[in-house]
Amino acid sequence: MTRGDGEHSYASNSRAQEKSILKTRPVLHKAVAAAHALSLSSGPGGAMVVADLGCSSGPNTLLVVSEVIKAVADCRHELATGSQPQHVQFFLNDLPGNDFNLVFQSLELIKLAANKDRQEEPLLPPYYVAGLPGSFYTRLFPDRCVHLFHSSYCLMWRSKVPDELASGAVLNEGNMYIWETTPPAVVALYRRQFQEDLSLFLTLRHTELVSGGHMVLTFLGRKSKDVLRGELSYTWGLLAQALQSLVKEGRVEKEKLDSFNLPFYVPSVDEVRDVIAQSQAFDVIHIQLFDVKWDGGDDDVEMEDYGGVESSVSVARSIRAVVGPLIARHFGEHILDHLFELYAKNVAMHLQKVKTKYPVILVSLQAK
Ligand SMILES: C[S@@+](CC[C@H](N)C(=O)[O-])C[C@H]1O[C@@H](n2cnc3c(N)ncnc32)[C@H](O)[C@@H]1O
Repeated sequence: MTRGDGEHSYASNSRAQEKSILKTRPVLHKAVAAAHALSLSSGPGGAMVVADLGCSSGPNTLLVVSEVIKAVADCRHELATGSQPQHVQFFLNDLPGNDFNLVFQSLELIKLAANKDRQEEPLLPPYYVAGLPGSFYTRLFPDRCVHLFHSSYCLMWRSKVPDELASGAVLNEGNMYIWETTPPAVVALYRRQFQEDLSLFLTLRHTELVSGGHMVLTFLGRKSKDVLRGELSYTWGLLAQALQSLVKEGRVEKEKLDSFNLPFYVPSVDEVRDVIAQSQAFDVIHIQLFDVKWDGGDDDVEMEDYGGVESSVSVARSIRAVVGPLIARHFGEHILDHLFELYAKNVAMHLQKVKTKYPVILVSLQAK
């Protein structure tokens, strides 16, 4: 993600992700209530431990913390008067390169965010926030100490590009992800990487959760039955087309494009269900798929307005905020402005024809 809070930063360009967090609120609040009850049942003195995995930096990080704090406050409201408030220990996790400084500098805004829209006496519980750098595809906590894991817009990122693709062999020419010309063998490599990653993630988190602990996970998925034309295949396919234009203009070497592969895979709901079932570690409390417009626009805005110049530019900015650093590392920073201008045009042309949206999978799990 692009650091800081400047024009191209993730903090300033993450409206679609914010929309998703807001849509998952009822499911998150239920999981918080259950995790809160669980933490109280272990007797007085213990804190409720919550971790947001892949927190990034910016308003969405604060939104998640404030939603959880508000939900805990609501639980306390329902308990008998005189009950002691439960202390909440919050861990914000991301990769070590994340802009944790920005997160720490903005922590004082959590109270404001949590109190926003609250009519009654806030009675926020005492809470403590700590940063936790590390990959969520590794152990992050000791055994059995977390009551609730939350993660939003992260689990479509793979732990790595599949080895066979990363080895340098050109297996998916002209593409950066699964797209119309991708061979079935490459689709299989991506799918296997997803299955291994999610299975590992579930095993790790199960060990770290207290018995009966909860997890609310939201990530990009696939609605289309045709894996070569999944909704996210368009997102990356249109970017690959913009890179192909730069190859034609002589600004990017073709070999560079052919060796660029995203560590990414968007599963269908059934693929997610299968991995969860195989893990035998969690009960599925809730699973659903919902849509979010690429530009993060409101659902009630007319579809004709979706994909106009303004929204295509905003889609390009949001994708640049996410993969800009990855692209700069591989191709050089100098191509970014031109690349994302071309991309905005490709997005506008696509959305004029098809009003594609992001399919988002929301799953709420309880540890067995
Ligand atoms: C699109 S951002 C989502 C940020 C925030 N949760 C939101 O909903 O706006 C994805 C985040 O996942 C993080 N991430 C990706 N892979 C990760 C991993 N293996 N371990 C920890 N964080 C990871 C990225 O660094 C990035 O900050």
